[in-house]
Amino acid sequence: MKMNLATLTVASTLAFNVPLAQSSDVEVLHWWTSGGEAASVKYLKTKLNNSGVSWTDFAVAGGGGENAMTVLKSRAISGNPPTAAQIKGPSIQEWGDLGFLANIDSVAKANNWDSMLPAVVSDVMKHKGSYVAAPVNVHRVNWLWANPEVFRKSGATIPTTWSDFIVQAKKIQDAGYIALAHGGQPWQDATVFEAVVLGVGGADYYKKAFVDLDMSTLKSDTTKAVFKTFGELRQFVDANSPGRDWNVATSMVINGKAGMQIMGDWAKGEFKVANKNVGTDFVCVSAPGTSGSFTFNIDSFAFFKQKNTEDTKAQNVMAKEILSTDFQKVFNLNKGSIPAKLGMARTEFDSCAHDSMDAFVASSQTGGLVPSFAHGMAVSEAVSGAINDTVTNYFNSSLSPSEGMNQLVSAIAAAK
Ligand code: GAL
Repeated sequence: MKMNLATLTVASTLAFNVPLAQSSDVEVLHWWTSGGEAASVKYLKTKLNNSGVSWTDFAVAGGGGENAMTVLKSRAISGNPPTAAQIKGPSIQEWGDLGFLANIDSVAKANNWDSMLPAVVSDVMKHKGSYVAAPVNVHRVNWLWANPEVFRKSGATIPTTWSDFIVQAKKIQDAGYIALAHGGQPWQDATVFEAVVLGVGGADYYKKAFVDLDMSTLKSDTTKAVFKTFGELRQFVDANSPGRDWNVATSMVINGKAGMQIMGDWAKGEFKVANKNVGTDFVCVSAPGTSGSFTFNIDSFAFFKQKNTEDTKAQNVMAKEILSTDFQKVFNLNKGSIPAKLGMARTEFDSCAHDSMDAFVASSQTGGLVPSFAHGMAVSEAVSGAINDTVTNYFNSSLSPSEGMNQLVSAIAAAK
């Protein structure tokens, strides 16, 4: 057939409109169901579809991922794990030790992951020296989100220390607003507690007590001071906080019902979905007393061993796409985090992300880069569960700081 311009146009239109054959499929477990989270994960689905891999969504709602991890365990135990699951930090080692995870070194080697990832990230992705997981981002957890209009109307200023936080929160409350938007769920209580630990105790104390689990550091006046400040925050939380989801708390700051929220930068994804701009509509600053530090929370997908080569191929496509420049950019613009991949252009990211990128580099040189224990980056699931339980129990009681400390020490001693 003789080709002319018209047939060529028809042919190319067809080529673009006909979807690629979906020869393979990945089933992916995650807990990204809020507005910002869903927009982020949707992009991974799109990227995979464009590469001929279809996506079976295995979303288990519940911020922080506790529900998702429970469901994952029952699926894995019954011999039917998904292709990949959102698993982070030391848990990756626990799943690797149990023999569930697939080796994806061939993808990692072919795409130079060792040189494209900072060691603090790649170390977490490996089990016994081999890649078994791929990182999508680096979240900074120690953030304070504020509504500038609420601050103006209350005559309050953005707090830079925890003692100043108490002063400013009182002004916001006196002006008729909720000072601290908070969801009473164990992982959210632990997220705020973790910020107080870092702000009151500093990075060295944080690491000794909550990463090394040094008992004499845990049983100290500093821990008592941490519980004291944490207990003072009870008065700034509204009566409807029990059970509230974190993104609902963020919306209270977005709508000007509340002045502040202490939350990781996935909160920024919610501001973005609501079309709010940093500076004018909302402010991001490091949580009180933590400006030189960075509590990191790296989201990653760990890959499960597959029974057939088609599924392994699809899994490898997913691993490769996750570390592509385009995915790392778009996903993180939506998610509020910064790319895990080194050498990415900064231009399209906002000032919160720039602060985060700068703080990540600076804190890694000063010792202020610390793993988030509230988000499964620092200690085993057993220990983080013990911390969450104690912290929640304390926040919802009138226990004294010494009682809080003693309960924490016993719980950690029993779990470690
Ligand atoms: C974190 C997770 C984030 C985030 C948050 C709330 O543990 O790392 O990606 O979305 O939970 O669901």
